[in-house]
Amino acid sequence: MEEQSQGDIYEQDPWWQPQSALFLLRTAINPARIAYFQALLPDRPGATALDVGCGGGFLCEEIAAMGFKTTGIDPSRGSLRIAGEHARKKGLAIDYQQGAGENLPFPDGSFDAAFCCDVLEHVHDQPRVIAEIARVLRPGGIFCYDTLNRTLISWLVVIGILQKWKRWAVMPPELHTWTKFIKPEELKMLLETNHLGWREHRGIKPVTSPIKTLSFLRRRARGEWNYKDLALRLQLIEGRSTAVMYMGYAVKDTMPLRLERKGV
Ligand SMILES: C[S@@+](CC[C@H](N)C(=O)[O-])C[C@H]1O[C@@H](n2cnc3c(N)ncnc32)[C@H](O)[C@@H]1O
Repeated sequence: MEEQSQGDIYEQDPWWQPQSALFLLRTAINPARIAYFQALLPDRPGATALDVGCGGGFLCEEIAAMGFKTTGIDPSRGSLRIAGEHARKKGLAIDYQQGAGENLPFPDGSFDAAFCCDVLEHVHDQPRVIAEIARVLRPGGIFCYDTLNRTLISWLVVIGILQKWKRWAVMPPELHTWTKFIKPEELKMLLETNHLGWREHRGIKPVTSPIKTLSFLRRRARGEWNYKDLALRLQLIEGRSTAVMYMGYAVKDTMPLRLERKGV
């Protein structure tokens, strides 16, 4: 039932319209994660990238702008339609496909880079999604991600403040399920199990103080601001604490192939 509700949100959301709550992904979150990923990714024209859970294409368009031949995949046909229309208007050749992260329709080793941002906390089967991402990455390929931590403070911020308590809530009440959030050490373990060498985690936090941030949310919750007004002020930046949201990367081992070649 809850999964159905989440699906409906993505199916019906206009994404690129400033009246959408998801617009915040583009304006508040994208700048922080893109700056972080860009610093990791060497300029390699012609390299291939996959965005798992691409939604309306906010991240895909940034990846394409970095010079990657970009593919986006998502279960939501409504989101993909909007992503495709937006890319066409911008003249971007992004290949959007319908599908789930648990069952990626690509051969082994197809991509130089894979992204999965604000998605792992929504999927049915996190271990399967990570295993599939590892499979479609080429040895030495990079996996970039961000997600939500499962802590008391993340419950307070994401579930309580952003979704549940009407005084501040700016997101649909069923958007996130706290039990699906993933602790950094759990994700690290999953990555390592799948031959994705974990490199680091960095926190993501609002640039403004907690009081100021709450006052912004209050203005949106009271209807004084639309999402665009909020999005212009609610900026997230890289930080040390991973207690609520974090991003990171891993590199696919070249070892298993080397071992195979040696007949080990
Ligand atoms: C919060 S949105 C993030 C969209 C995009 N990654 C971004 O950051 O702009 C979550 C997306 O995950 C997608 N999603 C949900 N379950 C999924 C699954 N099993 N495999 C791939 N994507 C999934 C949803 O359809 C939705 O588009």
